[in-house]
Amino acid sequence: MRLPKVLFVCLGNICRSPLAEGIFRHQIARRVPDHPMIVDSAGLDDYHVGEPPDARTLLVAHQHGITLNHRARLITPEDLQRFDYILAMDRSNLRKLQKLARQYGIADPPEIRLMRDFDPQPDSGEVPDPYYGTMEDFEAVYQILDRSIHHFIDFLLNSVIRSESPQHR
Ligand code: 4NP
Repeated sequence: MRLPKVLFVCLGNICRSPLAEGIFRHQIARRVPDHPMIVDSAGLDDYHVGEPPDARTLLVAHQHGITLNHRARLITPEDLQRFDYILAMDRSNLRKLQKLARQYGIADPPEIRLMRDFDPQPDSGEVPDPYYGTMEDFEAVYQILDRSIHHFIDFLLNSVIRSESPQHR
C-alpha cells in the first residue's frame, strides 16, 4: 500500500502544524502499523525557524501521550513538488500556499486543503491560532486536530483502497 506524503502547514510552525504532525504520526502508527509514511510540518513565516515547538504545544502533546521531535522550518518550493497533500490550518495559510504554488510555477501542485475540511464539526472552518492564548486554547486545538486527523486518515485510506482496487488498475 502506497500512502500519500502529507505536509501540515501553519504560520510559525511551533504551535498548530507540529502538533498536527505529531497527532497524525501517532494515529497512523496505530491504524496502519508497519507502513512508514512521509509526513512533516512547515511554516510560512521565519520568526521561529530552528526552534522546538512552543512549550505549551509540547505540554499538550505530552498530556495526550505524544512526543514531538520537530524544529521549525520554512516551507520550500520542493515541498510543493514533493508532497501529495498539504493541510493548511487557516484560510490565510491556504491563500499563501496557493500563491506560492503559482509563484513557483509548480506544474502539478499537491492537493492543498484546509485541515478542518475533514472535521465533522468544522465551526469556523479554521484551526484557531493559540499563540496568544492559554493552555485551554491549546487543549481545544488538540481536540480539533485529533478529530480532523482521524477523519482525514479515513479519507486517505479510502482513497488508497479505491486507487489500488482491481477496477482502477
Ligand atoms: P502557529 O502559531 O502558526 O500555530 O505556529 C504561531 C506561532 C508564532 C506566531 C504566530 C502564530 N508569532 O507571531 O510569532
